[in-house]
Amino acid sequence: MNEAIEKAKEHLGKLLIEQLERVDRLKKEVDWINYSKLQPIIIGIIGGDGIGPEISRHAKTILEFLLREEIKKRKVELRVIEGLTIENRVKIMKAIPDDVLTEIKKCHVLLKGPTTTPRKGDQWPNIESANITMRRELDLFANVRPVKVPKLNIDWIFFRENTEGAYVLGSRGLEVTEDLSIDFKVITTQGSTRIIRLAFDYARKNNINRVTVVTKANVVKTTDGKFLTIADQIAEEYPEVEWDDWYIDIMTAKLVDPARRSQFKVIVAPNLYGDIITDEAAQIQGGVGTAGSANIGKRYAMFEAIHGSAPRMVQEGRAQYADPSSLIKAAALLLNHTGFITPAKKLEMALDICAIYQKKLKITGRADGATCDELTGYIMETLQDPELEKNWQCYQ
Ligand code: IPM
Ligand code: MG
Repeated sequence: MNEAIEKAKEHLGKLLIEQLERVDRLKKEVDWINYSKLQPIIIGIIGGDGIGPEISRHAKTILEFLLREEIKKRKVELRVIEGLTIENRVKIMKAIPDDVLTEIKKCHVLLKGPTTTPRKGDQWPNIESANITMRRELDLFANVRPVKVPKLNIDWIFFRENTEGAYVLGSRGLEVTEDLSIDFKVITTQGSTRIIRLAFDYARKNNINRVTVVTKANVVKTTDGKFLTIADQIAEEYPEVEWDDWYIDIMTAKLVDPARRSQFKVIVAPNLYGDIITDEAAQIQGGVGTAGSANIGKRYAMFEAIHGSAPRMVQEGRAQYADPSSLIKAAALLLNHTGFITPAKKLEMALDICAIYQKKLKITGRADGATCDELTGYIMETLQDPELEKNWQCYQ
């Protein structure tokens, strides 16, 4: 027993040193990248695994089309990055192989297909999720997930903290004895400040007068308590923005409460709560397949589908029926983030029409529905329709 305690202490000691070093790194101010000064902006396209290669191939076709002039003038380069597959990662037991990470770091922004996250009991050993590693390696601290349902008067944007909380040491928990398992949750002043500030800045810039902070600070007092205290302090700097705070349990209920939900606008939360409520929100919009996800840092940004790699679809030979909407939505977020506002807006309108409003083609994930290829064709056609904006307006 003593031996187990000593081992646990040693492990905890190491984690604390690492986290304090991380805090030191966070204290160093880094400027935001300025895309307008880059020539070319390098957009890395990562296929991932499962249905990833199929849907990212189609998202790439759309980016190639929308950025054709910029690509021709060498203002933009699309670069395919191979090798971020579960087979490769398992072979060397690394969440992201070194050579792939080097290639990733040569890009400015990334569009990433889903990557399989091994879980207890499946065929893969327990390596860390490529998503979590990439968010950490590239310091993508803000997971920004918009959800809109005009006819329900829902217009939410979630700012999920993306680099700490229950995730940062999620693969580093302790089996102290056969009977005692302990995981760790980490919240820092610096990590909380930057995500909360980003949410308030967004509200200010977009004339939105409410920010909602989600925690479980009544129970998880130390870490969530810190997050909430920092929110309280930051809010003082934004007197024109009202703010309120909700606990995660009641927040999940209020998101489905028609009387309350349209009052929420900008929502900021620590990592795990943000993970959970953004899936719920996406479902209200029409399913996780309809929502894109932006992972933003000061130096890099990565855009991805909100859903997983659906290995079962591939095993059953159904990859061609995968829904590319979520990744194409992510491509629209990428365009917007890198300053290509008009193509971003067009793509969002085309997607809304094809995947939500008009829905001439329906993806079911099976042979009775449309293929990924057909839906992409439909989106491309819609994009080129001179009446695009007018058509979209009809549904607003
Ligand atoms: C997401 C996903 C990931 C997460 C998984 C795949 C690790 O659910 O992007 O929301 O939990 O962050
Ligand atoms: Mg999730």
